Amino acid sequence: MRMYDLIYTKKQGGALSPEQIAFWVRGAADGSLPDEQSAALLMAICWRGMDTEETLALTLAMRDSGQRLDLSSIPGLKVDKHSTGGVGDKTTLILGPIVAACGVPCPMFSGRGLGHTGGTVDKFAAIPGLKVELSEAEFLRSLRETRFANSAQTADIAPADKKLYALRDITATVESIPLITASIMSKKLAGGADALVLDVKCGPTAFMKTLDEARALAQSMVAVGTAHGMQIRALITRMDAPLGWAIGNALEVMESVEILRGEHGDSELAQMSFRLAAEMLIMGGAARTLEAALSTVRASIQDGTALATLRRFVALNGGDALALDDFRRLPQPGQIIEVRADRAGRVAAIDGRALGLLAMDLGAGRRDRKDVLDLGVGIRLHIQVGSKIEKNDKIFTIYTKRDAQVASAEFLRTLDVLPEIARERPWLLETVNC
Ligand code: URA
Repeated sequence: MRMYDLIYTKKQGGALSPEQIAFWVRGAADGSLPDEQSAALLMAICWRGMDTEETLALTLAMRDSGQRLDLSSIPGLKVDKHSTGGVGDKTTLILGPIVAACGVPCPMFSGRGLGHTGGTVDKFAAIPGLKVELSEAEFLRSLRETRFANSAQTADIAPADKKLYALRDITATVESIPLITASIMSKKLAGGADALVLDVKCGPTAFMKTLDEARALAQSMVAVGTAHGMQIRALITRMDAPLGWAIGNALEVMESVEILRGEHGDSELAQMSFRLAAEMLIMGGAARTLEAALSTVRASIQDGTALATLRRFVALNGGDALALDDFRRLPQPGQIIEVRADRAGRVAAIDGRALGLLAMDLGAGRRDRKDVLDLGVGIRLHIQVGSKIEKNDKIFTIYTKRDAQVASAEFLRTLDVLPEIARERPWLLETVNC
């Protein structure tokens, strides 16, 4: 087989066979094929696309480039969730313990944050002592004993994705639906779950800016999962303003625990987390209807079993479970600064991307993959879209460690304040089934 022929076929708009795709992925991962040829094929795929069979073949070849987790020793259907990422998205910390408490095993591998978006691994790392990189044996023990396991993706999972992603990053080929699909789904399939709920974020703060883009990605991932025989469903959710009141790792742990305690039950964050959890319960066979699943979810909050599951998960994996009840045990910032409104009106929009970047500048996120985070710093929002504000009202609290000159104007610029606004902003935009 010659790599030249694969590039030529795709350049002309033809389809690649599973054998050709497997040949490419193996050669890219083991270094036997030159990067220039992989880069050329990536660009051809970007322009010409791939059909579902090709995308599935690429997904499976990437999955098979590394280790696959065998979860068959854990009884029941195992259900995972993936979010395409946003600002303030801490739904995994909330729904993982809920789903586990309701009887469905929930194995999850998470990423670290980069740029304006946060990562679940960093949020869990804010719990003192909690091990966020679990060995296979530790992952399985956590799943067996608490029904919840969360670990950073290890280098052994889909290593071909790491190689190809690095090439995509420098060749402007990240934005391709089949390449994104294969990248995400290869890691999810290697994780070994039986079913998957996707939270595809849509909006100016998300990877997918328009509903058409988000729908295309959701349909592609659902088609690949279904073709592989996996139960899979996608929710397309709005991502413009930050999700919830907290941006920053320790702050996001606090907000998640508050929701598990039963606070902020009507917030968009709680509703979204509960809905995703309910979808997972249906897939795991713990409920038949959405209504029944949502009432099981709410019961796990009311009777304290969801929070108790998070405590057990933290304690089992070396973390300080007392920090979930006493937030003074979480990483603290050095300074607290208040930002107050410079005018009155209604908050018409909050620029989540800009706030995510400001949080990154405080040290809550990474500009570069090697950056070390300040886990205690971040931003607390005292407003949401629709809030009525008066001049001098408290808008943000900034938690910072640096001697940073926090320029209030920069934070206030993230708000659009109008005299009056129309407020109809559903968080759930669409669902995509097979
Ligand atoms: N997230 C991934 O894991 N891969 C992509 O290609 C894009 C987002």
